[in-house]
Amino acid sequence: MHVDPRTLGWLSRALTHEMSALQQYLAQSVLARLWGDTALAAKLRHEALEEMEHAERLMERLILLGVAPSAGNLPPARLGRGVDDLLAADRQLELDAVRLYQEAAAHARRMRDGDSVALLEAILEEERAHVQELDDMQTQRVQHG
Ligand SMILES: [Fe+2]
Ligand SMILES: [Fe+2]
Repeated sequence: MHVDPRTLGWLSRALTHEMSALQQYLAQSVLARLWGDTALAAKLRHEALEEMEHAERLMERLILLGVAPSAGNLPPARLGRGVDDLLAADRQLELDAVRLYQEAAAHARRMRDGDSVALLEAILEEERAHVQELDDMQTQRVQHG
């Protein structure tokens, strides 16, 4: 199968993003647990597992294309001194994800790589949902003080 090298590049960038997101949510979950906020810790851990599943789907696509998955250097997890810091860092992470998947899907569409388009657009929708979840969490925090 001919594989467009730039599509492979997008898939690898997406994998790096997902491994970074997994690291960030998991580290924040540990931090929240250390704060004694078990509800937040559980929520963040759940997010980490969703990002791990994204990484898994990208790995499957890469392996089917004959490439060994290799995430790039992961940036440090963004932590903070309070819940607002964590949610702000996560919102930025998710907005970056939305932009990355939009560009990656657009490229795959130009290459008429339907399987990659389907995967990238499916994850894009889930990243949009992540932005919405974070906005809902922030709204609830404002309402409940
Ligand atoms: Fe993700
Ligand atoms: Fe996400």
